[in-house]
Amino acid sequence: MTQATPSVPTAADAAVGIFDSGIGGLSVLRHIHAALPHEKLLYFADSGYAPYGDKSEDEIVARSLAIAAFFIDQRAKALVVACNTATAAAIQAIRERWPALLVVGIEPGLKPAAQLTRSGTVGVLATRSTLASKRFALLREQMESSHQARFLPQACVGLVDLIEKGELYSPATVILLERYLAPLLEQGADTLVLGCTHYPFVREAIEDVCRRLSGNTPAIVDTGEAVTRQLLRLLDSAALRRPASPGSLAGFTTASSSTLAHAFANLLRLDPPVHALGQS
Ligand code: DGL
Repeated sequence: MTQATPSVPTAADAAVGIFDSGIGGLSVLRHIHAALPHEKLLYFADSGYAPYGDKSEDEIVARSLAIAAFFIDQRAKALVVACNTATAAAIQAIRERWPALLVVGIEPGLKPAAQLTRSGTVGVLATRSTLASKRFALLREQMESSHQARFLPQACVGLVDLIEKGELYSPATVILLERYLAPLLEQGADTLVLGCTHYPFVREAIEDVCRRLSGNTPAIVDTGEAVTRQLLRLLDSAALRRPASPGSLAGFTTASSSTLAHAFANLLRLDPPVHALGQS
């Protein structure tokens, strides 16, 4: 009797790690999961340390390096920093520490917004840390000099906490959105950049508040899909795309596993195994 040859694991077989300060990166994961059904996806929610947006750059770099090291231990072939705040603070440090790792980050979509706006005024919603970063200042400068657009940065302090609690359309969320959106609309913004991966989960509330305040629905830019296209390009150019075989998904969190499991079910209609790692 001939024995079946066991399949030899290859580098392409390795997992893709995706992380965020919390559940926000699920807005990126939903695109990756749909576009790459054969990959092994590992999602890390650092909810025990969220929000990152009010932390110092050193703290964000330390957390990002610790999470990248976790994925390296899991033998990941690629890492998606599904967090604008961590990308701005730490992507360079991650690339320097693991030069052979494929790394994709996310940045506020100023370029697509500049192409979409008709009024020439774009509101950029993001964390305080992203908007204060050198990376954002550089991007803004480049976009303002190459496009006929002005960008109005608006830090949405407190919004990530509400989204982490599942308050996607609560009175507190609506009050906060009114406070942040009104000045942008008064200054003529017709396009809004969602510069934090948590915000796509309150997109409906954002649109409703804008309609109520200005009578118009703004164009909204979310870069989750662009990040997925970049991941695909990198995997293909390194010949690391996993061949057609069933993919998988697992979640890890530094807070409670039931909270992350609940977020997977509520936000993405997915039910992967979820592991609590504890805070370290
Ligand atoms: N989701 C994150 C981002 O894209 C971070 C939010 C936070 O933890 O403050 O910036």
